[in-house]
Amino acid sequence: MTARRIRFTDREPAQADILDEVLSGLFSPKKRLPPKLFYDKRGSELFEAICETPEYYPTRTEIGILRDSAQEIAETIGKDCILIEPGSGNSQKVQLLLETLHPAAYMPMDISKDHLKLSVQALGAAYPWLRVHAMCMDYTAGLEPFEPPPASAESKKVVFFPGSTIGNFEPGEALAFLRRVARLVEPDGGLLIGVDLKKDPAVLHRAYNDAQGLTREFNLNVLHRLNTELDADFDPGRFYHYAFYNARESRIEMHLISRGAQEIHLAGEVLTFADGESVHTENSYKYTVEEFQRLARTAGFGVRGCWLDDCNLFSIHYFDLPS
Ligand code: AVI
Repeated sequence: MTARRIRFTDREPAQADILDEVLSGLFSPKKRLPPKLFYDKRGSELFEAICETPEYYPTRTEIGILRDSAQEIAETIGKDCILIEPGSGNSQKVQLLLETLHPAAYMPMDISKDHLKLSVQALGAAYPWLRVHAMCMDYTAGLEPFEPPPASAESKKVVFFPGSTIGNFEPGEALAFLRRVARLVEPDGGLLIGVDLKKDPAVLHRAYNDAQGLTREFNLNVLHRLNTELDADFDPGRFYHYAFYNARESRIEMHLISRGAQEIHLAGEVLTFADGESVHTENSYKYTVEEFQRLARTAGFGVRGCWLDDCNLFSIHYFDLPS
């Protein structure tokens, strides 16, 4: 049972794919890097540490909602689904649902292979009844590699996408992702998704500028990663972390700003920076409940449930497809 109950499929993207994306981002007129680059081993550890800071409210608020409403969420979804989690990380949040939801299988997907392997082992040990089929893949490149476990053909598919990771997509990309999810879970599946809400910009500012400097380290870690994996020669000390709320776009923007003019070498190319020039590393869009529901409806979903914390900081939605 154990050998078949736990499966690990490796579709880790080739280094060449990452290099292409990095180069096209860094050599575009407004320099940018894809946020998925954050999540190597060190970056994933730093992100977990950020989630524990007093300033970064989304994680503990979402966990609170899941704890308080697990029963109601499970009743809304129904038992024995195939639960698919793109970008599952350490699979911490899903564990608040597993006992009540009792899925037929759990399918985590993550780009960080070591992290995924560790969490699959831990889940296998903690939930001896649970079938876990994990896949190391870049889900932002498409959900197509997903293969449902053969024994669960009858079960409906439900995507679990917590953490407001949807906020890291441009609105157009977010809609495209929701449409891809709809295609993946049709005919009668659903989507349980965590979405950070619009709020006082000062609260948002603090969440991305924590006093311990972990978000700063997380942002700068991208440069260490380019040095190690792509043989670049960035001096991370010559860049600083800059995060602010852009109210017009309803998003937190994270940048790395060059201290002085400098030249960087990577992959046989020379990259020049002017003093104060930025590399845009992340956007984190914030929505109202209504705005997000409108987006999900546009992707073909129906609104089935919405759970909030008492301070209206964060939302969890359940959408499904009309059968
Ligand atoms: C993963 N994602 C939803 C986080 C966010 O809030 O946008 C990533 C993060 N960036 C800085 N702090 C956390």
